[in-house]
Amino acid sequence: MVGGGICGLAAAWRLAEAGARVHVLDAGEIGHGATWAAGGMLAAALEAEPGEEGMAELARHSQALWPGWAARLASVTGIDVAYRGEGTLHMAASRDELAALNHRYRFLRRLGLPVEWREAAALRDLEPALSPDVVGAIAAPGDHQVDPRAVVPALAAAILAAGGRLSERTPVAAIEPDGGGWAIRTADGARQRADHLVLAAGAWSAGIAGLPPSARPPVRPAKGQAVVLGMDPAAPLLRHVVWGSGIYLVPRTDGRLYLGATVEDRGYDTRPTAGGVLSLLEAAWRLLPGLEELPIVELVTGLRPRSRDDLPIVGPAGPPGLHLATGHHRNGILLAPATAELVAAGVLGRPTDFAAAAFGPARFTPHTEVPVPA
Ligand code: GLY
Repeated sequence: MVGGGICGLAAAWRLAEAGARVHVLDAGEIGHGATWAAGGMLAAALEAEPGEEGMAELARHSQALWPGWAARLASVTGIDVAYRGEGTLHMAASRDELAALNHRYRFLRRLGLPVEWREAAALRDLEPALSPDVVGAIAAPGDHQVDPRAVVPALAAAILAAGGRLSERTPVAAIEPDGGGWAIRTADGARQRADHLVLAAGAWSAGIAGLPPSARPPVRPAKGQAVVLGMDPAAPLLRHVVWGSGIYLVPRTDGRLYLGATVEDRGYDTRPTAGGVLSLLEAAWRLLPGLEELPIVELVTGLRPRSRDDLPIVGPAGPPGLHLATGHHRNGILLAPATAELVAAGVLGRPTDFAAAAFGPARFTPHTEVPVPA
């Protein structure tokens, strides 16, 4: 497994439990890329987009796997991944936003997604600290959250418990076909062989040296900036995940309030910017004015792997033994359990419940040369 973000770790856990000998290589610290920066929303309903009905089905499947997954991680490792089930509210804070949100509500209902409409008075009963400007919301009671920074150590421990190996700070220098499998040369000069190589290197997946051009996934980095504030965990300002125009707010059990996230095309630049922070704080303050008293505890940036069609790229890549698990863009945390199923099915040669081909690399054929992102 090349890449120890949540999807690589999830697939490694699944494969290790199925009896495969698994070794995860990560260029940095396990799970400290896009996963570490993520909000952790399991928003299968609210992330649904027109033209992505197949994705909505995969997202709902993965969302349904999460509670059992969280419970199993806790029982195997003793680590609580802070699964919270209050649900998500997508707010309108003006008459114009209300009209747009109503339109979106009708779209989500047409897709058959479990959403309900909430009037302003009901919202203030649910979340008393909301701005009086809030005039209505879509409620997505099934869109829950986890804390990705708890999921990472839990998955790492689960992989080790299942007999897998993890190597941190071990960048891959190059890969090459080797006797029906793959040889992986790491920057420290070591070489190892695997029957199957799963490339789950997030926004870096297209740039691995030795990757056949026909198998290079069309992914590029999509920068996300977030601001983390500190609430009193005994008296939090917010309990639900809340969305608004250009913003979402994710309250953690330990008192952190995550305000996310920008979506920017800035290559591999991970510096926080004044404009990014300003836009997040302003948009969050419009919904929750009381947050102006809260301390800033962290500025976070991450690089989502964004594919050419915004859908994940998961499955056999063409050359024997080579598999991809990347391109999860805004939904890496949500899709981790389903990605693990798809990767394991591809590696072990088992059928899936899903039209897995819809997410497979082959949809980009006939292959056009994919430029390596700068
Ligand atoms: N899942 C939301 C985001 O990527 O910002």
